[in-house]
Amino acid sequence: MKTDKDLKELWFSFFKDHGFKRIDSASIVPENDPSVLFTTAGMHPLVPYLLGEKHPAGNRICDVQRCLRTNDIDSVGDAWHLTCFEMLGNWFLGDCPKEEMIKLSFEFLTSPKYLGLPKEKLAATVFEGDEIAPKDEVAYKTWKDCGINEVFYQNKEENWWALGGGKGPCGPDSEMFLDTGKPKCGPNCSPACDCGKYVEIWNDVFMQFNVQNIGEKAVLLKNPNIDTGLGLERVVAILNGAKSVYDTGIFKVVIDFINERATVKYNESESATRSYRIITDHLRSSTFVLGDERGVVPSNLGQGYILRRFIRRAVNHARNIGFDTKYFADIVDIFVDKHGQDYRDILEHREFIKEELQKEVEKFSKALEDGHKEFDKVINGIEKHKEFALKTGEIVENKISGKAVFRLYDTFGFPFELTKELAAERGYTVDEKEFQEKFKEHQEKSRVASAGQFKGGLADNSVESTRFHTATHLLLAALQHFYGKDVKQRGSNITPERLRLDFNLDHKMSPEEIKQVEDFVNEAISREIPVVCEVMPYEKAKESGAEGVFTSKYGSEVKVYTIGDVSKEMCGGPHVQNTKELHHFKIIKEESSSSGIRRIKAILD
Ligand code: ALA
Repeated sequence: MKTDKDLKELWFSFFKDHGFKRIDSASIVPENDPSVLFTTAGMHPLVPYLLGEKHPAGNRICDVQRCLRTNDIDSVGDAWHLTCFEMLGNWFLGDCPKEEMIKLSFEFLTSPKYLGLPKEKLAATVFEGDEIAPKDEVAYKTWKDCGINEVFYQNKEENWWALGGGKGPCGPDSEMFLDTGKPKCGPNCSPACDCGKYVEIWNDVFMQFNVQNIGEKAVLLKNPNIDTGLGLERVVAILNGAKSVYDTGIFKVVIDFINERATVKYNESESATRSYRIITDHLRSSTFVLGDERGVVPSNLGQGYILRRFIRRAVNHARNIGFDTKYFADIVDIFVDKHGQDYRDILEHREFIKEELQKEVEKFSKALEDGHKEFDKVINGIEKHKEFALKTGEIVENKISGKAVFRLYDTFGFPFELTKELAAERGYTVDEKEFQEKFKEHQEKSRVASAGQFKGGLADNSVESTRFHTATHLLLAALQHFYGKDVKQRGSNITPERLRLDFNLDHKMSPEEIKQVEDFVNEAISREIPVVCEVMPYEKAKESGAEGVFTSKYGSEVKVYTIGDVSKEMCGGPHVQNTKELHHFKIIKEESSSSGIRRIKAILD
């Protein structure tokens, strides 16, 4: 077994043999879940089932899920970290047979029929216990019985799993690591340290608890579950004997592509290697996020902000190694060719991804230009101060304040290193300490703001968002009614105040056209049409002509919402019961979103 495709096949054949049914990968942008910005793990789309709802595929399921995590973004560039990755997962729903799961994990990892990893190279960690959950002696003993020598007890920080926001099903876990053969970094070396000796590959979570609201204590789940996740890219790298994820598969293709075109080569220095990896990782993540069926575009908020950061960081690192950003589009093509078959939305949005990426690169270049001007202003200001100080005897250092450096960073997107470099050219230093303080303050503020945003967000306004959700379906139906079925949703976003829909159309809508669309939607509202939800096989939904991006070749059961003869869409919901709940629909803005894409913002009175 050498490729990601081989590993996926092995995974599904192994779990199928043990009675698990395969389900589809969900979108990377979660819908109607305000607690996280992105799908961070395979369990994420399964939360309702982990809380007790019955899954149409039964109580033993498995999948491969595209995930995105930014908590380790600063580690990207080392050998093993990625922001976007595919996670192989399996679940026991309503049941928690811990010993059975550990034995399954052991078999898959070590059996020559599957991964055939030597057990001497494996290590495991288990939960040491606290006031909520006891020490996991069963997991410890099971690993030992399997013949794993290195089993470590660890605390909650290391061996407790919860979703990004901390809300939802959670519990103690047992992680599996591969010993890379590096010498121990000290007497206390363990999988918990980041010296690189141990690489985490798989996690079995024994999901016995639930946190209903952030800040509240975990309570026992009535029906416990098991949730596991194996990092596909890491395991492929390990099985190929690679020293890093970036030295295998599609990552290697991209690194080689850059290496042929950049002035600084991949192995020239540690910092160059890091830049290559960051560009590769961030452009892959950008491809997945921009191409997602729920279309996110760069902005200063939430998901759009993370996307903006990916793109801007990629630009900065491209500059570090003398790599022209005009090649970014080719890198997108490489990723789309690779992943488009498994994730159809990326394939369908290929051009959109490239356009939006290019736009953001240009915007950033412009900001950098403005930043240079601002930088000159800062220096001129200090020079003037110095002249004045000559008269007063005051001593003025050639030092840019942390506040000014932070402003350059925050408003103009100037990376700290760039300011420092430019300052040095002019014989200046920068106040790094003050900059770091400002930076921390800012991070704390955005953390609090985003926690607030998500705490108070959709969850507390579910009635509003549900109404907007249904209105979005009616709006799309109206657009297709007037402009033809080729008009497709290219992005959607709902806040408690308004809906936003992006769609393809080759012209600006006239006031008369806008009025027609509003009337169409309002007519459907006044007809008081019931909204009907049906669960059906994916193939059947597709055949029925339901609207929706059919993201995957591999299908299971999906939900289709029908609104009389007006609209039929495949969608996760939720929706109102009857269109009368929408009262009155009004378009407040119609504008261009990108070339060939229009954007409508609308409200419900
Ligand atoms: N949800 C678990 C994880 O992501 C399996 O580690």
